[in-house]
Amino acid sequence: MRKPIVLAVLGVTTLLFGSMVTIPQASAASLPTEKQCKKAKNLDQVTQGWCVAITRKKGNCLACHAIEVKGWPKDLPAAGNIGPPLVSMKDRYKDRAKLRAQVWDSTVANPETVMPPFGRNKILTETEIDRIVDFLLTI
Ligand code: HEC
Repeated sequence: MRKPIVLAVLGVTTLLFGSMVTIPQASAASLPTEKQCKKAKNLDQVTQGWCVAITRKKGNCLACHAIEVKGWPKDLPAAGNIGPPLVSMKDRYKDRAKLRAQVWDSTVANPETVMPPFGRNKILTETEIDRIVDFLLTI
C-alpha cells in the first residue's frame, strides 16, 4: 500500500519542481522534454541544440533518427529509423564544418536523400543549426 503513495508523491514533486530546476547539460542525468524545452529559459548552448533537434516544429530529427545520448527523457516518444542513429558524432566528425554541412543541406552528399535541407530551405535558422551541431558534437 505504501509504495504507490510514495511514488505518487514523488511524481507530483517532480511535476512541481521539475520545471524550476536548472536544466542540465546534455551529459547530465536528464535532458528536457519538448514541453520543458518550450518553457525553459537560459539554457546552455548544448541543451538549446538538443531542444531544436527534438522539437517537432524545428529539427524533428527524432522522426528519422535515434539519438544515442545519456539522460534521455523517459516520456519522449521512440525515435524513427528512416535515417541512421546519430551516434559517436564527435569521433566521426573531426571536422565540424562537415557535420554542419550535412544538416544545412543534406542533398549535397546525397541528392536522393529524404532528409530535409534545414539550412538551404530555411527550416532552421543559422543559429539553430549551430546549436544542433554544438549538441551533436557532445555525443
Ligand atoms: C525525414 C527523415 C530525416 C529527418 C527529419 C532528419 N534526417 Fe538526418 N538523415 C536521414 C537519412 C535517410 C540519412 C541517411 C543519409 C542520406 O539519406 O543521405 C540521414 C543522415 C544524417 C546524417 C549523416 C549520417 C551520420 O550518422 O553521420 C546526419 C549527421 C543527420 N542525418 C543529422 C540530422 C539532424 C541533426 C536532423 C534534425 C535537424 C536530421 N538529420 C533530420 C533522414 C532524416
